[in-house]
Amino acid sequence: MSKSQGPVCLIMEAEKLFLLFSLIMLQFLSCTSQESLKTNQTIKEGDLLISKGNIFALGFFSPGSSTNRYLGIWYHKIPEQTVVWVANRNDPIIGSSGFLFINQFGNLVLYRKDDQKLLVWSTNVSVEENDTCEAQLLDSGNLILVRKRSRKIVWQSFDYPTNIQLPGMKLGLDRKLGTDRFLTSWRSADDPGIGDFSIRINPNGSPQFFLYNGTKPITRAPPWPWRSQMGTFKSVFVNDPDEIYCQSTVPDGYYLVRLIVDHSGLLKMLTWRESDGRWKEYWKSPQLQCDYYGYCGAYSTCELANYNAFGCACLPGFEPKNPMEWSLRDGSGGCVRKRLQTSSVCDHGEGFVKVENVILPDTSAAAWVDMSKSRAEYCELECKRNCSCSAYAVIVIPGKGDGCLNWHKELVDIKYDRIESHDLYVRVDAYELAGNTRKLNGSREKTMQAILAPSIALLLFLISLTAYLRLKKGAKKGTELQINSNSTESECFKLSTIMAATNNFSPANELGQGGFGSVYKGLLANGLEVAIKRLSRSSRQGIEEFKNEVMVIAKLQHRNLVKLLGYCNQDGEQMLIYEYLPNKSLDSFLFHESRRLLLDWRKRFDIIVGIARGILYLHQDSRLRIIHRDLKCSNILLDAEMNPKISDFGMAKIFEGNQTEDRTRRVVGTFGYMSPEYAVLGNFSVKSDVFSFGVVLLEIVSGKKNNRFYQQNPPLTLIGYVWELWREDKALEIVDPSLTELYDPREALKCIQIGLLCVQEDATDRPSMLAVVFMLSSETEIPSPKQPAFLFRKSDNNPDIALDVEDGQCSVNEVTISEIASR
Ligand SMILES: *[C@@H]1O[C@H](CO)[C@@H](O)[C@H](O)[C@H]1NC(C)=O
Ligand SMILES: *[C@@H]1O[C@H](CO)[C@@H](O)[C@H](O)[C@H]1NC(C)=O
Ligand SMILES: *[C@@H]1O[C@H](CO)[C@@H](O)[C@H](O)[C@H]1NC(C)=O
Ligand SMILES: *[C@@H]1O[C@H](CO)[C@@H](O)[C@H](O)[C@H]1NC(C)=O
Ligand SMILES: *[C@@H]1O[C@H](CO)[C@@H](O)[C@H](O)[C@H]1NC(C)=O
Repeated sequence: MSKSQGPVCLIMEAEKLFLLFSLIMLQFLSCTSQESLKTNQTIKEGDLLISKGNIFALGFFSPGSSTNRYLGIWYHKIPEQTVVWVANRNDPIIGSSGFLFINQFGNLVLYRKDDQKLLVWSTNVSVEENDTCEAQLLDSGNLILVRKRSRKIVWQSFDYPTNIQLPGMKLGLDRKLGTDRFLTSWRSADDPGIGDFSIRINPNGSPQFFLYNGTKPITRAPPWPWRSQMGTFKSVFVNDPDEIYCQSTVPDGYYLVRLIVDHSGLLKMLTWRESDGRWKEYWKSPQLQCDYYGYCGAYSTCELANYNAFGCACLPGFEPKNPMEWSLRDGSGGCVRKRLQTSSVCDHGEGFVKVENVILPDTSAAAWVDMSKSRAEYCELECKRNCSCSAYAVIVIPGKGDGCLNWHKELVDIKYDRIESHDLYVRVDAYELAGNTRKLNGSREKTMQAILAPSIALLLFLISLTAYLRLKKGAKKGTELQINSNSTESECFKLSTIMAATNNFSPANELGQGGFGSVYKGLLANGLEVAIKRLSRSSRQGIEEFKNEVMVIAKLQHRNLVKLLGYCNQDGEQMLIYEYLPNKSLDSFLFHESRRLLLDWRKRFDIIVGIARGILYLHQDSRLRIIHRDLKCSNILLDAEMNPKISDFGMAKIFEGNQTEDRTRRVVGTFGYMSPEYAVLGNFSVKSDVFSFGVVLLEIVSGKKNNRFYQQNPPLTLIGYVWELWREDKALEIVDPSLTELYDPREALKCIQIGLLCVQEDATDRPSMLAVVFMLSSETEIPSPKQPAFLFRKSDNNPDIALDVEDGQCSVNEVTISEIASR
């Protein structure tokens, strides 16, 4: 493969050192295209790709005190290495074995070469084969992959930000491409892996940016539109049907500014100070108490008068929910409506009290925007008409005109602010309405005027989060529900917690059923959604598998394995608590008439690779060697981004030391996915998982179930059918017709070939998962498959030939059997 380097256009390590001291010399050393990487050129350890103006460099680096190697981009001129982007952030390379090049499909690929060549990272775009690509590092710090002929950018690092936003980079949604660009922190200064903190847009209601700790908001930017232009830095906010994003711009040539979500959970803007030779904090958040999301609880406002004052106050018509806490300056309990028993806010005479100069409450859960009506009176009428409407605001969105923002739930995170001077109209009862109008004017207006000093304008920037200080004690913890995602210990949940989370196992929360019992969706008190597998009392798997599953998965951490959050073993109930995956299982897409259309070829291929990686991890990357024994489409769950996650480890076996094979009298698994040596002899090994993977792979490519017949005479299984087509050189006929022509035939053929290799009759002929992952992700020669197992299917009393599948239901055949008659 392309190993040759382009020495002319790459600067070697020695030269780099030299260049640090002699930047002027660089102009003479550089060649015109040194900022680009062409097909058949390689960047390896020590090589650099440098942007035209010598501003950014791309190469391998080790963060902090780590010795792991990562491919990244940093400022080339700054002596203190400041990395702004990392390619393989979760997949470090050990040693100097990494190399980057453009493969023949026009993708940038990063490999490591130890014993075997392994793909570490790739740009994953499809490029027309007859056009070549070139990678360029721009002076903005953007690494782009361009088609040579059409000059079209097919991929850019700005679309895949890590923890830093550079000027010109958009943060937000691109609905056309279906991408969401957001920043996630590093895990630590030594580890660029995806950390807990992120800043991300929430497009619901009126779009807002949140800084999150996991899924918990730490701080929120005010609702749009932001009026955030100041001095040198400007930010643009765009909200149209195709895109919602925020982009910052700086004057030409002023590039030494960056917005970072750091690993301690702070959002910071930093600028480079040439005179001191260091980065200077220009702005950061959260800083002051009102900055923290919901610092004063619901139905209250937060205002920072001075550092010693308690900034929380209830909205008109509301009083502290817990006066004792409130008097001790803990506002997190929030406020409740006064006179709840004696008066109504929705009979007659009720109305609205204006609260001026605030950052409007969180709009994500409860607000809707009606842009079609323009008169302020209309907003009041609309809100008044509907008793669930607790407040409204009249907002103006540039280019879109006036509209109403109505809140139908709690009002959370309202703060006084000097720049964002919106008025909020809060619904109150008649009593309040009569007495309150006078009280509210006067004092508030004066203080606001005093604070409106121009220098305060500095508070808002790009992501314009205002700032106040939160006292630590105010932060209520989710008591027993603290889940530490890094922990390998699984959490023991109380039955009462689970009952509350599932509404007493309400049928409405049931996600599905299986031989083991039922799965429920649950919502924990801390807002985390979970899937709860409740083992039925009669479940034949029983305690043994329960313990097995808890023990096995608690030790496993991989992005393609479902995460076990905890378990519950109380009062005869046994439950496993998993992360909740909104998209359910692969079979519910693959075999469903319309949902299958959501799985285009790229997704299917990514899913195949993901599953393969997950199994590879089980087989050899984790400290234990684990045989899953029940791989099938219904055990592959998909997360919101359609990433596959292997689940259901109830049957898994752990091998210790060098053991590779075992034998059992108790054959467990699912017909159609079991290898012959396992189904017939009870022998299982990593190769029996490989067989199941092969079946899953062929099902993904074809959209057909192995368990059905695909030809009457003789009755063939899917495997048999694919094998027939393969021998006749017509293998592509098996590709799911719902993909129409929209797939890469070479990739599809490669998958089919790998699938056939995996289902070969003789276990020793089947490739290891390592080989499978390698074949999937590179252009290596793939051996020809020999005859697979289970070509034919006994035509039992059901003569139907199912050529297509009409439902997403599992047939009886696909339910895991825990035991089959002893042989
Ligand atoms: C890259 O190398 C391969 C094999 O050496 C060669 O066939 C191909 O033409 C080269 N491509 C370019 C663009 O130089
Ligand atoms: C090459 O690609 C261009 C579009 O990029 C297309 O118009 C042309 O037909 C292709 N040529 C061949 C031989 O496939
Ligand atoms: C983030 O959340 C974790 C778990 O809830 C907590 O322990 C930690 O203190 C939080 N960090 C910040 C900076 O909020
Ligand atoms: C009130 O508003 C809520 C939320 O928009 C809506 O679901 C409900 O149908 C409305 N009720 C009436 C009577 O319009
Ligand atoms: C490319 O695909 C692989 C496998 O699905 C995935 O792990 C990787 O993150 C993707 N890379 C990019 C840049 O999207």
